[in-house]
Amino acid sequence: PESKLQLVQRHIRAFPDFPKKGILFRDICPLLKDPAALTAVIDLFEEQVRKNYQQVDLIVGLDARGFLFGPLLAQRLGIGFVLVRKKGKLPGTTVSVAYELEYGKAEAEIQEDAVSPGQKVLLIDDLLATGGTLFAACELMKKRKAEVLGCMVVIELKELNGVEKIKPHSLFSLLQY
Ligand code: PRP
Ligand code: HPA
Repeated sequence: PESKLQLVQRHIRAFPDFPKKGILFRDICPLLKDPAALTAVIDLFEEQVRKNYQQVDLIVGLDARGFLFGPLLAQRLGIGFVLVRKKGKLPGTTVSVAYELEYGKAEAEIQEDAVSPGQKVLLIDDLLATGGTLFAACELMKKRKAEVLGCMVVIELKELNGVEKIKPHSLFSLLQY
């Protein structure tokens, strides 16, 4: 019988030279289109949280594809979901952090009241590449004095070594390429 992980893996496609020549783009769209595969993703994340992060208070999802998995996981766990957005999208008082992209810069932002000092959070995104995006989100949590228990992604691109970038925070990934 097929494992949950195999089911997930079967629903990820690779596109060469997207969005630029030389990049092999991992596409999660088939995963979202298949309800059993999407359920398997959330099952696997839930198992990890129940095993290693029972004290978690909030799931924090990264713009934009972290929003596809984060709320499902948070609801499964019976806890809240918070958005880290690209700058300029959130109303009210916000906290932001600038970070480096492969080409140029970006800024990540949260609402000031989204997390409270001392709250324990897990960060979630679809994919870890250089780790710049998750690192920025960790910095935001630090600014708000929240405790990052760990980071979770569906896909880890090993050769870019993003795991070093987010240290000392731990990474849990379902699939590694
Ligand atoms: C992608 C991906 C991660 C990030 C990973 O998002 O969904 O959030 O890049 O790259 P990194 O580890 O090198 O930071 P992207 O910035 O393309 O934005 P999107 O989710 O809005 O498409
Ligand atoms: N797939 C999806 N998103 C990405 C990738 C990728 O290969 N690299 C950086 N962001």
